[in-house]
Amino acid sequence: MYFPSYRPRRMRRNQNIRRMVRETHLRVDDLIYPMFSAFGKNIKKEIGSMPGIYQQSIENIVIEAKEVFDLGIPAVVLFGIPENKDAVGSDAYCASGIIQETVRAIKAAVPELTVITDVCMCEYTDHGHCGLIKDGDVDNDSTLELLAAEALSHAQAGADIVAPSDMMDGRIAAIRDILDENGFEHIPVMSYAVKYASAYYGPFREAADSTPEFGDRRSYQMDPANRQEALREAQQDVAEAADFLMVKPALAYLDVLRELKDNFDLPLVAYNVSGEYSMVKAAAEKGWIDGDRVMMETLLGMKRAGADLIITYHAKEAAILLQGEK
Ligand code: PBG
Ligand code: ZN
Repeated sequence: MYFPSYRPRRMRRNQNIRRMVRETHLRVDDLIYPMFSAFGKNIKKEIGSMPGIYQQSIENIVIEAKEVFDLGIPAVVLFGIPENKDAVGSDAYCASGIIQETVRAIKAAVPELTVITDVCMCEYTDHGHCGLIKDGDVDNDSTLELLAAEALSHAQAGADIVAPSDMMDGRIAAIRDILDENGFEHIPVMSYAVKYASAYYGPFREAADSTPEFGDRRSYQMDPANRQEALREAQQDVAEAADFLMVKPALAYLDVLRELKDNFDLPLVAYNVSGEYSMVKAAAEKGWIDGDRVMMETLLGMKRAGADLIITYHAKEAAILLQGEK
């Protein structure tokens, strides 16, 4: 087909034709909203670099969880800011830890909202790394035991899905085993299978108070240059019975999303991370871009790249705009 007989513009002439031939759709069902639960009472503290996103104590989290549910968003993912941090991240796997209490409160108030918990140690360790430190680095195999205990205690508190983000080798199997041994074979594991050592996490580390005290996370998170390795990471997690695969961050890794989509048949999650959110907000605040349109275009791009689901701080705003489109 060649011009002048073939004219692609014929299919873009008006809104109805464009709707009819649209290939990709963003739906409210695709969205997962992250929330930060802080120890204490009456806390609602906006994160400086993330306008509209707060560290909140449990009673305020519950109010927002209801709002999220009423917007039709199916799920939230929870991060915790505990009262105390220590070398072994005790609060992470304590039955009365910040996340365990938050899960109970949300499930009591909004039982139908799907509650996903982030399983990692960095929010709970005083050194801010994602596991136990041995000889100046995070020790893989001893960390697995803590992650498994953390995932189990989240499930016991009522979490619907657990999402390990630590990047230790073998963690999906360790978590699957402990869940199955304890009667939680029905709880899915959403693996942060392909997680890069990224500067885009900057604002999150302020939000979750989880900046490493020394060094960085490059000995466990992936090198941003690697695509083939992403396939091996995903393959490993599939073999360990992960139920969802995730690519994180999303925007600079759309090729990796597509690669996973083409190679694996598990539901694929994109994490539209904190720095991606902050950039849109900052540029919009300056009047340099149309924030709403850039947000929707970005989320749509992630879907087009292959994401089935998107974890995004934009979830509420996007849900409201999608309602307006109907
Ligand atoms: C913890 C974790 C991080 C994010 C999600 N879980 C930060 C990190 O690994 O440093 C980043 C999320 C974001 O930037 O929005 N392991
Ligand atoms: Zn971590």
